[in-house]
Amino acid sequence: MQRTLAIVKPDGVAKGYIGEVVKRIEADGLKIIAMRMELLTQTKAEGFYYVHKERPFFNDLIAFMTESPVVLMCLEGEDAIARWRGLMGATNPENADPGTIRKDMATNIERNVVHGSDAPETAAFEVDYFFKGSEIMG
Ligand code: CMP
Repeated sequence: MQRTLAIVKPDGVAKGYIGEVVKRIEADGLKIIAMRMELLTQTKAEGFYYVHKERPFFNDLIAFMTESPVVLMCLEGEDAIARWRGLMGATNPENADPGTIRKDMATNIERNVVHGSDAPETAAFEVDYFFKGSEIMG
């Protein structure tokens, strides 16, 4: 069993894609064991994306992630990290496979609807960053 963090980003929430994303997660058999809507502060978004702080797109990314609410989820299942990444598709929607969330719903490499942890260590950090143990119904 593995856990991973999923985020429906501001563009996904604003366009009304929460339900479609949740539907795809549940249809795949992943369990949503925590879920909350939140308007991220600048500090919270910067702390979450600290690994990207030297990247040229960092300031734009933080502005985007704080422009309107996100939906935060903890997913659980066998191989949950890779399965959720498979449902999302490639970061750049131009490279995403047909039938993935980003291919179907994303605008561009930044406004790409969803986030998912990329490895067990980042998943542990990211789930813990947004959820207290008592908020996780595992
Ligand atoms: P995410 O998987 O949340 O991880 C970092 C985010 O930065 C990524 O999705 C995109 O939203 C954004 N991002 C990554 N690469 C670029 C890029 N080259 N230009 C703009 N935004 C990017």
